[in-house]
Formats: sequence, structure tokens, C-alpha cells
Amino acid sequence: DWTMAEFRATKIADIRAQVGQGRVICGLSGGVDSAVAAVLIHEAIGDQLTCVFVDHGLMRLGEAEQVVTLFREHYGIKLVHVNAEDRFLGGLAGLTDPEKKRKFIGGEFIAVFEEEAAKIGGADFLAQGTLYPDVIESVSFTGGPSVTIKSHHNVGGLPERMNMKLVEPLRELFKDEVRVLGRELGLPEIFVGRHPFPGPGLAIRIPGEVTKERCDILRKADAVYLEEIRNAGLYDAIWQAFAVLLPVRTVGVMGDMRTYDSVCALRAVTSTDGMTADIYPFDAAFLSRVSTRIINEVKGINRVVYDYTSKPPGTIEWE
Ligand code: XMP
Repeated sequence: DWTMAEFRATKIADIRAQVGQGRVICGLSGGVDSAVAAVLIHEAIGDQLTCVFVDHGLMRLGEAEQVVTLFREHYGIKLVHVNAEDRFLGGLAGLTDPEKKRKFIGGEFIAVFEEEAAKIGGADFLAQGTLYPDVIESVSFTGGPSVTIKSHHNVGGLPERMNMKLVEPLRELFKDEVRVLGRELGLPEIFVGRHPFPGPGLAIRIPGEVTKERCDILRKADAVYLEEIRNAGLYDAIWQAFAVLLPVRTVGVMGDMRTYDSVCALRAVTSTDGMTADIYPFDAAFLSRVSTRIINEVKGINRVVYDYTSKPPGTIEWE
């Protein structure tokens, strides 16, 4: 794509001009945006960049390992991998309010990040994979001016005490454009084509209290769902698909035993920028196949429902 090739060249020049001989730290989330930002910045300034991956333990199945392998081994980018699962789950204990969960995760993320930044001797710049819709939606929402729908933890949350300037090379881009840029930069398809994943991770897909056990249950259900979506050849036609683990238990029957387990909701939407979305119209056979597999394979879930809500009035994530 020639326009993206041009954008890439322009941004590399911009990054070099902005950063000079300075040092840059970039937080990786495992998502497309921060990955593309990091690779672009690495191309511009090489070893002046250090990536920090704060692994909050709220990632999808196998995702943390993929991030480390890709950045360290494939790209040779300096990467600090911080396993902070205990710290995040510890702080989430007892929290049930969605905004409190988001704020805790956002704040903790910054705290861990700052500690790691200090350990490597600090930096002059902080790089972020902020996109155009993030810029807009964190300021207002089409439903009314200056109403915060959700506190996004990847924008604007950085305390001034960090004393670093921001490098945000993707600020003008929409998601589809970031993907084109990622391909242009040679990022593997499994990364570039990946559905968006929110900064607070699985915590906002587990309404109510988040525990390690519930994260593990959700990870398994989510992996089954995504595997079926890939097998059906539908992954790329969908903007985002994921499972949600509800804080509701219902009665069921397996064999001739009574069960009393959690409900899992499946979400899948189409969208171009995440600001509006329509539900994905799976056929009934697909949904019943996924439902049967999840109930048979994931201990702790005995009922599966499909979320039929567009955005608006729903949001894509449940919290
Ligand atoms: P909602 O749920 O607001 O989500 O309709 C719109 C898009 O944004 C993603 N999302 C987030 N991304 N940090 C992120 O980086 C966040 O805190 C966050 N919250 C929601 C969501 O997955 C969807 O793609």
C-alpha cells in the first residue's frame, strides 16, 4: 500500500526528529496498537527503545508468551517482561464496580511501569499506541458531551511526575489503518489480524469480582470460542469476538447429575472503528456447537447465552 509506505517513512522521520538521542520506553499490551507502535519506533531509533510488558495475568490463553517471543526473539527489541499477576489479582480482590476495577488496573499499570522505568534508569519519552478513536472517546461520546463512558487506561492517565514526553505515532489512525501499517512493517498475521483487546483485559469480561480461578475458566471458554470461529473461517469477518463470564449461577443437568455453575455469554460484533457496532449473525448450528463444546470442556460453566446487543445502546465490552 503506497500511502501506508509513505506514512511509515514520514513517521520514522518524525520520530527521529522528536526523539533525537533520547531514550524511549514503550508499554506493550499484547494488542495490535502497541505492537505496531513499538515496531515502528524500533525501526526509527533501534536500541534507544526499550519495551516494557506489564503482564497483569489478565491476558487471553497463550498470549503473554507470544508477545515475549515475537519481540525478543523475532525483532530483537529490548524487552522487560514483568510478571505482575499476583499484584493485579491481589488488588482486584473485593472490587466489583466496573469503574473501580478499571481505575485500579490503570493506576497499578502505571505504578508497575514507573518502577520498571526507574530500574532501567528512566527515559526521556514514553511511547503509546493511542489511536484516533481513543483520543475522541476518552474526551466525549456521541451520547452527550464530556460524559465518561469508560475510563480507558491507555490514554491520558499518565501522571506528570513521570516527567516524560509522549510519542504517539498512531494518533491519526483508525484500527484498519493500523493493521495495514503493521503488515507494511512485516508483523505476523496472527498479530496484525488479531481482534482488539482492552487494556484492562479479562477483568472487564468478568463482571463482579475477578479471581485467578475465574480468569482461568474464562480463558478456556474464550479459547474454545475463538478456535471454532477460526475453524469456521469467520475470524477476519468479525471485529471482536470474546466470551464473558457472568457472576450468575444457574441450575443444569449433566448425565443424571444436578449442576450449579456459571453462565458464559458470547459476544461477537462487526465494526470499522469500535465506536459503533452490530452483532455478528452466527447461524444456529455454529452457536450450538460452541455452546456444547464450552459446557463439555470447561468445568465451571453449565450454560451459554449469546449477546444480541448492538452499540449503541450497548458497548462492546460488558464493563
Ligand atoms: P466499548 O466497550 O467502549 O469498547 O464499546 C470500544 C473498543 O475499545 C476497546 N476498549 C479498550 N481498549 N483500553 C483499550 O485499549 C481500554 O480500557 C478499553 N476499553 C474498551 C474495546 O475492546 C473495543 O474494541
